[in-house]
Amino acid sequence: MADSIASAGSVDWRAAANAVLASRWAKPVVFTAALVPLVWTVWLAYTGELGAEPVLESVKASGLWALRFLLIALALTPLRMLTGVAGLARFRRMLGLFAFFYACVHLSTYIGLDQFFDWPAIWKDIVKRPYITVGMGAFLILTTLAATSTDGMVKRLGGKNWRALHRCVFIAGLAGCLHFIMLVKGWQTTPLIYALICIGLLAFRRWPIRLGRQTDRRRKDAKPIGTRPVRTPPATALRSGEAPEPRFPDGSSPARRS
Ligand code: HEM
Repeated sequence: MADSIASAGSVDWRAAANAVLASRWAKPVVFTAALVPLVWTVWLAYTGELGAEPVLESVKASGLWALRFLLIALALTPLRMLTGVAGLARFRRMLGLFAFFYACVHLSTYIGLDQFFDWPAIWKDIVKRPYITVGMGAFLILTTLAATSTDGMVKRLGGKNWRALHRCVFIAGLAGCLHFIMLVKGWQTTPLIYALICIGLLAFRRWPIRLGRQTDRRRKDAKPIGTRPVRTPPATALRSGEAPEPRFPDGSSPARRS
């Protein structure tokens, strides 16, 4: 009894989470929330509250948010597997694209406001400062993934090739973390925490832990028992050689159920 109440509660919790995530407001809300760090940074810069070096602070903030969105996008599949909330998958592409968006803001702030489009100096930086080279590598991977993120590209590349290519997102994540570790001076724990999270997500992908009830593809697509027609033709139909009509377990015909 207690078990069935608990399991009904957990089904309701998952169903409620999935219903919220599937609602037509969910994507606009997540989209708007993802723009808040940008608006907030611009506001702080405008009001002069971004510190003594506002350009460097903007470069740092956008880099940090690029890495955060990348890790959040990577965390959605493990979260879906752990909680069984299948609706989380809807947001993977959007959040991955936000990682790319913040990386673009990061790069353009660096090129336009930090280096004033001084291309020889930028090239010197890329070659001479290894953390910039690594950051550029991460950016090139993110650009490739963003360019191939459309449904059309999935079709053109074929599911298998597309998935193989998009596994490179972990390389981008690790390169982003390495970029962060390399640029900080001295021993700092923050970049190491980001790297540990990225390695943990990669490890989860390799050795997934499944807790509680699952919503893998079979479960998700499965119709509740009792609503699936079963092919148990009436004896008369078989004798007459007619094609058997699917029936529900209670014997009624699906054609007669609304
Ligand atoms: C496109 C090539 C890139 C360039 C040229 C670049 C350049 C920079 C620069 C100049 C800084 C500031 C360094 C300082 O504190 O003096 C920085 C910081 C940072 N970048 Fe990048 N970056 C690039 C790509 C990326 C990418 C793709 C990511 C994330 C996936 C990223 C994440 C970060 C982070 C987390 C920081 C440190 C923020 C902090 O100190 O709080 N960068 N980057």
